[in-house]
Formats: sequence, C-alpha cells, structure tokens
Amino acid sequence: SAGRDLAGRHVVVSAGGTREAIDPVRFIGNRSSGLQGYALARTAAARGARVTLVSANVALPGPAGAETVAVGSAEQMREAVLAAAGSADAVVMAAAVADFRPADYRGSKIKKAEGAEPGPIRLVKNPDILAELGRNRRPGQVVVGFAAETDDVLANGRAKLARKGSDLLVVNEVGENLTFGRPDNAAVVLGADGSRTEVPRGAKEALAEVVWDLVAARLERTSSG
Ligand code: C5P
Repeated sequence: SAGRDLAGRHVVVSAGGTREAIDPVRFIGNRSSGLQGYALARTAAARGARVTLVSANVALPGPAGAETVAVGSAEQMREAVLAAAGSADAVVMAAAVADFRPADYRGSKIKKAEGAEPGPIRLVKNPDILAELGRNRRPGQVVVGFAAETDDVLANGRAKLARKGSDLLVVNEVGENLTFGRPDNAAVVLGADGSRTEVPRGAKEALAEVVWDLVAARLERTSSG
C-alpha cells in the first residue's frame, strides 16, 4: 500500500469546470462534475499530503483534509492556482478550464429585441494555466495535466504533453456518458520520460491513486523532501 508517502508534501489540485460570464445571468460552461479532482484531493490527503483544492463550480462537499478555495472563472482559477503553486511539490490540473471567454462582459442582462436577430458573442483566449505552470515550475515540482480527447487519444495526448511542458498527462476519452459525472473513469497516463500507464475502467479514486503513485515516484527521484 502507498501508506503516507505524501506526508510533508504540499499538493495543489484543481477541480470542476470554469464558467465564463456573458452577462450577469449567463455563462459559457462545460460538463465537468469535479468528481475526479475531488477524488485526487481526498486520496492525497489520505496519503498524508497538505492539499489545496481549487474548485470551480462543483456541487460536492469539500473533501475532509483539504483546504478548498472556490473560484468561478479561468482567470480566478489562474490566480488561486499560481498563488498556491508557489509552495507546492506537485500541481495536478484536473479542472476543465475554458479555453475561451467572451471578449466583452455585458454589465446588464442582454435583452431580446423584438424582430431583431441576436448579435454574435466574440471570444478571446484564456491564459493556459497548465502551460504557465510547466514554464515556471520550482525545481523538482511535478506538474500533471489532464486531457479530454474524443479521437486520436494517444497522438493528441503526446503532442499536448510536449506542448504544455507537463511531467504527466492523464488522457481520457470523453464523449457522451463516458466520463463526465460518472463515478468511474478509464485513462492512459503519459509521462514526459516516455512512460505510459494504462488505467482500466474503475473508480475515479483508483485512477487518483495511480496518479499519486507516479507523482510520488518522481518526487522521490528529484527532491530531498
Ligand atoms: O488544452 P486543453 O484544454 O485540452 O488542456 C487540458 C489541460 O490543461 C487540463 O489539465 C486543464 O486543467 C489545463 N488547462 C489550463 N488552462 C487552460 C486550459 C486548460 O490549465 N486555459
């Protein structure tokens, strides 16, 4: 068993899905439930880690043993994650961060105008938090990303791992009824060292334990603790 192999470590986990406001009542969001991120936070705490959970729009009770920071948008998530990452041994970005946000926030609710077609919503890119973590990591810090792919899962995963500069990338196949909101998941964890770990369909806790096994092995290799 893994025991308390993360004792004395600080880990940051992001969970859920960001919401990008269009106006005071509407947003662009995604189907992330937060279950995988919460499973990561729970299992890390059980293995002895100090856990900061940055949680975006998740309807689950905060896991015991984790300090939960609630955020809404990608920009808020970036601030909270980067602040916590400064002292972290590992950062796991399990959240579904919106790639884009509306360019112009409307301070008042957009109204339907009689006889008029609605105008377009222009989008701009959000900052890529995972890529930023990959570029600015502390020595020995382990950075883990998630990738939800619908096709060419492995090829896209390898390319994304390189692009983001992560140590590990957890690739799962998404699609209707495959991952979102389900208690189970199946994944391939790709390592920057060329490793590849298949995780068969099982509880999201089981995948979380595999992620922490891989993180703990890397921490042992690179730092004195
Ligand atoms: O590029 P893509 O959205 O597929 O990457 C997914 C991974 O990158 C996840 O780990 C997610 O948390 C992270 N991400 C991020 N900031 C973004 C978009 C994604 O940190 N703006």
